[in-house]
Amino acid sequence: MKLIQIIVGAGILVNSATLSFAQDRKTEQAIKHRRAGFTLMSTYFSRLLQTVEGDRPFNGPMVISDARTVETLSRLPWEGFVPGSERGDTKAKEDIWFEEERFKKLATELESKTSNLAKVAETGDLKKIKVAFEQARDTCNACHKEFRKK
Ligand code: HEC
Repeated sequence: MKLIQIIVGAGILVNSATLSFAQDRKTEQAIKHRRAGFTLMSTYFSRLLQTVEGDRPFNGPMVISDARTVETLSRLPWEGFVPGSERGDTKAKEDIWFEEERFKKLATELESKTSNLAKVAETGDLKKIKVAFEQARDTCNACHKEFRKK
């Protein structure tokens, strides 16, 4: 009887250790996911920045393609903001989980501004593209100011 109790007890211990390990892995993966998403998004976004700043010759089809890529990528980071992922290899501020609505609002705002940018890119009008680009960038900056550690 005693032996069985010990075995059962040990089993429970092992199980909860495995569970918390699995949880850590999940959190770690979520952080990696969102950071990778932001990194990719900024690769294409920076290319657009160079174009609107005049540091890269205007290439209409490429601008359309990059803007569409940014539009798609702007949907991806958010699922990585799972509860508990304020700790770890991350610059995310805890406020994200205390002010969830504000954070979600900025995320949705980015999505609509990148959609607008993708649409405006099709006009081939660099002046209009610059305005749409800057509107999207304002949202990047606003969110970083509020929710990302330096
Ligand atoms: C709704 C909030 C929000 C918006 C909008 C946003 N970001 Fe971020 N960004 C974050 C947070 C939070 C982090 C920190 C993520 C982490 O470390 O876990 C981050 C991190 C990053 C990083 C660093 C990635 C790394 O870990 O190396 C880059 C680059 C970045 N963002 C670019 C952008 C660009 C470009 C835009 C706009 C096109 C943008 N972000 C819009 C919240 C946002």
